[in-house]
Amino acid sequence: MNTISKIDVLLGLQWGDEGKGKVVDVLTPNYDVVARFQGGPNAGHTLEFEGQKYVLRSIPSGIFQGGKVNIIGNGVVLAPDLFMKEAIELEKSGHPLETRLHISKKAHLIMPTHRLLDRAYEAQKGDKKVGTTGKGIGPTYTDKVSRNGLRVGDILSGFQEKYLAHKQQHLKMLATLGWTDFSTLEAEEKVWMEGIAYLRRFQLVDASHEIDSMLKHGKRVLCEGAQGTMLDVDFGSYPFVTSSNTISAGACIGLGVAPNKIGEVYGIMKAYCTRVGSGPFPTELFDETGKKLRDLGHEYGAVTGRERRCGWVDLVQLRYSVMLNGVTQLILMKSDVLDTFDTIKACVGYRLKDGTTTTDFPYEIDDVTPIYQTFEGWKTDLTHLTSSSEFPKAFRDYIAFLSDFLSTPIKIISLGPDRAQTIIL
Ligand code: GDP
Ligand code: IMO
Ligand code: MG
Repeated sequence: MNTISKIDVLLGLQWGDEGKGKVVDVLTPNYDVVARFQGGPNAGHTLEFEGQKYVLRSIPSGIFQGGKVNIIGNGVVLAPDLFMKEAIELEKSGHPLETRLHISKKAHLIMPTHRLLDRAYEAQKGDKKVGTTGKGIGPTYTDKVSRNGLRVGDILSGFQEKYLAHKQQHLKMLATLGWTDFSTLEAEEKVWMEGIAYLRRFQLVDASHEIDSMLKHGKRVLCEGAQGTMLDVDFGSYPFVTSSNTISAGACIGLGVAPNKIGEVYGIMKAYCTRVGSGPFPTELFDETGKKLRDLGHEYGAVTGRERRCGWVDLVQLRYSVMLNGVTQLILMKSDVLDTFDTIKACVGYRLKDGTTTTDFPYEIDDVTPIYQTFEGWKTDLTHLTSSSEFPKAFRDYIAFLSDFLSTPIKIISLGPDRAQTIIL
C-alpha cells in the first residue's frame, strides 16, 4: 500500500495579516510537521489561547503544540538577532524550542547591513517607497538571487571571514546610495553575532530530505505561508510587494518539495480587506467605515504597529488569488468585526479607465473603480457561537455568496482571535 502523504499549504489570499498564525495553531493537532517556506521577520503571526497572546515572526506557528517538528525552510530569510530574541521569549513562557525546531542550512541570513540597505533604498525612493517593514527582506533576497548571499550553513565553518567580505560589499553599496547613518550598526552587530552563536544549538538540517523521509513514513506536513498573495513578488501589486513568492508554488521552492506532493491548499481571507505599507488597494475606505473596521478589527501591524489600511472585501482580487494558489478550501476570518454593520459590501467587478468592466484581475489596479454588491448585515454578536447551526440567516447568505463567487467551499470560520473561537464546517 502506498502510504506517501502530501504536504498541505496554508496561505494568505489578500495583502497579509489574514489570520494565518491563528489557523495554523488550530490545525496543528492534525499534523506532525509545520514548516515555514518564505518570508522572514517581516511576518507577524498572532495566536491567542488560554488568555495568552503570542506574536511569531520567524518561528512557525505550530510551536505551541507539543510533539510536533517545526521547520524553517530554505526559502526563509532569517535574522539571527531577532530570531534569538523571539526564541528566548518563547522558552521563557514555557515553550521549549531546541528539540522542536529545525532550521534549513540553505536559509539565507539577514545581516545588519541588509537592514541599512533596506532603509537606504526606501529613502532613495522618496514618495514612491514601498513602505517595507525595514527588516532587510528585499536586500537579503536580492543577495540570494545575485549569488552573493550568506546562508545558515555558512556559520559552520570560516564564518567571520565570509561575514566581513559580505559586510564590505554592503558598505560599498551604502556609500553609493549616500547612506551615512551607521550609529546603530556596531551594537546591532554585537547582538547579531550572539544570535549566530545561539543558532548553533538548533538542528541545522537539509529540510528537503527530512520532509521527503517524513512523507514516506506517512507523516503529515503543513506549510505555513507568510504575507499574502497580493504581496507575491511576481503576481502581487508589483512593485509594492515583498521579495518572495508567497503563493502555494513557493512552498515547493522554499522547502524543496515536488509540486505533485501538494495536497490541500487552505486559502485564508478576511471578511473585509486590509493592507499595510504603500501601493494600490481598490476597495480601500477613507471614511468613517474604514475607521470603524480598523477600530473594531484592531487593525494595527503586529510587527511595526502601523495602522493597517482597511476596506471592503474584494472578490475580483480573491478570485485571482484562488486561481493562482489552486485553493481547495477557504477559511473565513474576522466576520465578527462586521457584527454591528447595517449593510456590508463586496466588490464583484472593476470598472476600468476606459469605462469597460471586468471580473478578471488586470495588470494594473491603480485606476480601477470597484463595483459593489450590498448585503444585509446580521446585527448579531457572532463571537460566542459554537456551531454553524446558530448562524443568523444574513450571515449564512453572505458565506454562501462568497463561496459561490469564488467557486470554493468555505470550511472553517473564525469568529474571534482565540483558538477556541473557531467553527469547522
Ligand atoms: P497573520 O499575519 O496572517 O498571522 O495575521 P496577524 O496576526 O498579523 O493579524 C490577524 C489579527 O486578527 C490578529 O490580531 C489576530 O489575533 C486577529 N484575529 C484572527 N482571527 C480573528 C477573528 O476571527 N476575529 C477577530 N476579531 N480577530 C481575529
Ligand atoms: P504577515 O505574514 C502585511 C508588506 C510591507 C510592505 C511590503 C514589503 O504578518 O501577513 P518587506 O518588509 O517584506 O520588504 O515589505 O510588504 N508586508 C506585510 N504586510 N503582513 C505581512 O506579513 C507583511 N510582510 C510584509 O508592509 O508593504
Ligand atoms: Mg501579520
